[in-house]
Amino acid sequence: MQLTDEEKRMLDGGSGRGVQRAMELLVALGKSFDAERMIPILRTHVALSGQEGDTYWCRLLVEGGATCKVPPTTNPSWDVKGLTKHYEVTESELELGLQTIEVYRKIGAKLTFCCTPGLGTNVPAFGEHVAFSESSATPYVNAVLGARSNRESSCSALASAVTGVTPLYGYHFESNRGGTMLVDIEARPKDAYDWGILGYFIGRFAGSRIPVLSFRHMENRPTPEELLYLGAEMATSGSVAMYHIVGVTPEAPTAAAAFRGKAPEFTLPVLPRHLKEQEEQISEKGGRINLVMLGCPHYTYDQLRELACLLEGRTVHRDVAFWVLTSFDAIELARRSGHLETIERAGCRLVADTCIDEPCWKSFEGGLGVTDSPKCMYYRERRGQPFVIRRLSDCVEAAVRGEI
Ligand code: F3S
Repeated sequence: MQLTDEEKRMLDGGSGRGVQRAMELLVALGKSFDAERMIPILRTHVALSGQEGDTYWCRLLVEGGATCKVPPTTNPSWDVKGLTKHYEVTESELELGLQTIEVYRKIGAKLTFCCTPGLGTNVPAFGEHVAFSESSATPYVNAVLGARSNRESSCSALASAVTGVTPLYGYHFESNRGGTMLVDIEARPKDAYDWGILGYFIGRFAGSRIPVLSFRHMENRPTPEELLYLGAEMATSGSVAMYHIVGVTPEAPTAAAAFRGKAPEFTLPVLPRHLKEQEEQISEKGGRINLVMLGCPHYTYDQLRELACLLEGRTVHRDVAFWVLTSFDAIELARRSGHLETIERAGCRLVADTCIDEPCWKSFEGGLGVTDSPKCMYYRERRGQPFVIRRLSDCVEAAVRGEI
């Protein structure tokens, strides 16, 4: 790779061992994708997970004296202070949670602990080159905002935060951003849940292709939350990091523009029955439940407002824990606007800084959960808790009745 004098200095250790390690990783990444050079970036998002690998990498850089040139926003780990009042974790799990916060603070990250940066705390401009990890955040900034990011890992995004550069390959090039498959959609998704199921269905066929969604009927433009769910699920059942919706996303004013003049590799039809069949295929059937879990990706203020309306005057069943994962600022807005009181009075709890895929939730494992998110189902089932997947209003009914 062609490196600038400054990049060579970083690679040779002139800025310390931590920066050197970060640059070594980026050069290795760039070489493996035949990148000719680096490009500067001014935004990154690090999908820290509170798990050993990425905390180890961050500590390694900190011990080598590195700090962030471009302070990244960060994904959630878990609320070590709040959730240990409710649930037991082992000493080593707690220690890892505390260390994660400590090393990311030391390296100079912006500790947002939220997985929806593109909706508020870290919003790139159209055409801006960035380095975003988090499988739901990357398609959002690429497709919806028109920024340019590869599907970074937490390690490569943190390396970019430290060095201020990322290898120039993949989605940074205009020529690689054109659609490669057509999705011909007869179905009419009507809320974020439907958009999520649609995304899960498309992702199964897309793999890492760039789907171009073309709707036969679209009454309303999708909301940011609906687009977030679409991308999150395409990146769960597939590894989609970029997509287009004809007439909606900024690089797809027409189908021809979305495909950059090329022909699609194939066409995937989506009929209304496909969404129902997809739900039935991935959801458990039902029964008594011990948990309703929403907020994967993190609920926004607007979603909390909708939840408050549904919970008004209701009471969550005594055998059910109802948790909603969200951001600290959405909780504050809900508090100021009076919705937090309604939500908490019903027996539902909000928690910030927390991901569904963490040890703090293990006491529910073995029981049945309910969620509106296939991504939540996917990760929680790997830890031993099966889930029924339903839209928000049905999740609330299940929470009140204690079964679904
Ligand atoms: Fe967010 Fe964790 Fe889900 S990072 S998208 S709550 S898996």
